[in-house]
Amino acid sequence: MRVFSGVQPTGNIHIGNYLGALRQFVELQAEHACIYCIVDLHAITVPKDATRLRENILDVAALYMAVGVDPKKSIIFVQSDVPGHAELAWILMCNTYTGELSRMTQFKEKSRGNESAPAGLFTYPVLMAADILLYDADIVPVGSDQRQHIEICRDIAIRVNNRHGKVFVVPDGRFLKEGARIMSLDNPTAKMSKSAENPLSRISLLDDAAKIRKSIMKSTTDSDGIIRFDPENKPGVSNLLNICSAFSGLPIPDIEKKYEGVGYGAFKKELAELTVDALTPIRARYDEIRRSEALREALADGAERANEIAVRTMARVRDFFGLGAKR
Ligand code: TYM
Repeated sequence: MRVFSGVQPTGNIHIGNYLGALRQFVELQAEHACIYCIVDLHAITVPKDATRLRENILDVAALYMAVGVDPKKSIIFVQSDVPGHAELAWILMCNTYTGELSRMTQFKEKSRGNESAPAGLFTYPVLMAADILLYDADIVPVGSDQRQHIEICRDIAIRVNNRHGKVFVVPDGRFLKEGARIMSLDNPTAKMSKSAENPLSRISLLDDAAKIRKSIMKSTTDSDGIIRFDPENKPGVSNLLNICSAFSGLPIPDIEKKYEGVGYGAFKKELAELTVDALTPIRARYDEIRRSEALREALADGAERANEIAVRTMARVRDFFGLGAKR
C-alpha cells in the first residue's frame, strides 16, 4: 500500500497535528511505502513572508524527523520541488465543478465576510487532490477536519476514471479515533488551530514544560467536577480525556475510572506531566535535526524520489488525456 499525507509549513505545529496526523505517519512507515510532503504551495493561498516561509518549511521537515519519520524509510519532500503537483492540479481543475468547491466548509470559513477571495483558496482542495493522486496513494492519514477534502479527492478521481479509464487510484482517508479532532483548550467547541490568537489555546510541539503546564492548567472545563466523556455537554473535559487517552494509550473508560472522585486540578496536573513527558524527547531531537545538514540532504533526496514517481504518473495522465505531442 502507498501512503501519502501533507502538512502546511506554518509555525505552531500543535498536538492536534501530532495526534491527528504525524503520529500516524510514524506508525504507517513500518508497513507501507510512505510519502510525506510539506505543502508550501498550499501555504501561499494566504500571503506569506518569503523568508519566514522558507524557515517554516525546514521547521516542519525537522518536526517530521523529530517525531520519528525516517527519511531512509519514507520520502520526505517539499511540494513545490516537484512540478507535477501544480500540473496535475490544473488538469483536475478542469474536472472539478465550481459548485462542489463552493460547498467546502474550509473555503466558506476562510472567505467569510469577503466579497472576493484568492482563487487559490477556492481551488485549494484540487491541489490537495493532485498531491494524493500524483502518487497513486491508497491511504491518506489525516485529522477529521480534512474529511471533506478527502471526499472531493475521491469524487474527482472517480469522475476522471469514468471519463478516461483507470487513470487514478481512489484513496481512502485514515482517521484515528482519539486524535482525529483535538479541540482548542480555551474554547473546546472549536478545533485546536495553529493560527488562534491565544497561545494557551494550543500546545505546540515545541512548547517548553512551563508553557505546556500553563496551557493545560488554564484549560476551560465546566463546573460539575466530574471527569466523564460527554463531548456535547462537557466539551472541555472530553477534550482533555481524548488527549490523555491519545498520549497514554489507555481507553477513555479506564481513565474515567482512574479519576473517579478526583478533582479537575489533580487530573490536569497528571495530564500536564504526561504531555511534558511525551513532548520533551521530540523537542530535544528537533533542536539537533533542525541544525543538521542531514535535514537538507533528506529533502533533496526526497524530492528526487518523489519526482521519479510523479513523472511516471504524469506521463500516464497525459496519455489518458491526449495531452502533448510526444508519446
Ligand atoms: P494542516 O497543515 O492544517 O494540518 C496537518 C494535519 O493535522 C491535522 N489536524 C488536526 N488533527 C486533529 N485535531 C486538530 N485540531 C487538528 N488540526 C489539524 C490535519 O487534519 C492534517 O492531517 N490540507 C492539509 C494539508 C494537505 C494534505 C494534502 C493532507 C495538503 N495536501 C494531501 C493530506 C494529503 C492541511 O491544511 O493540513
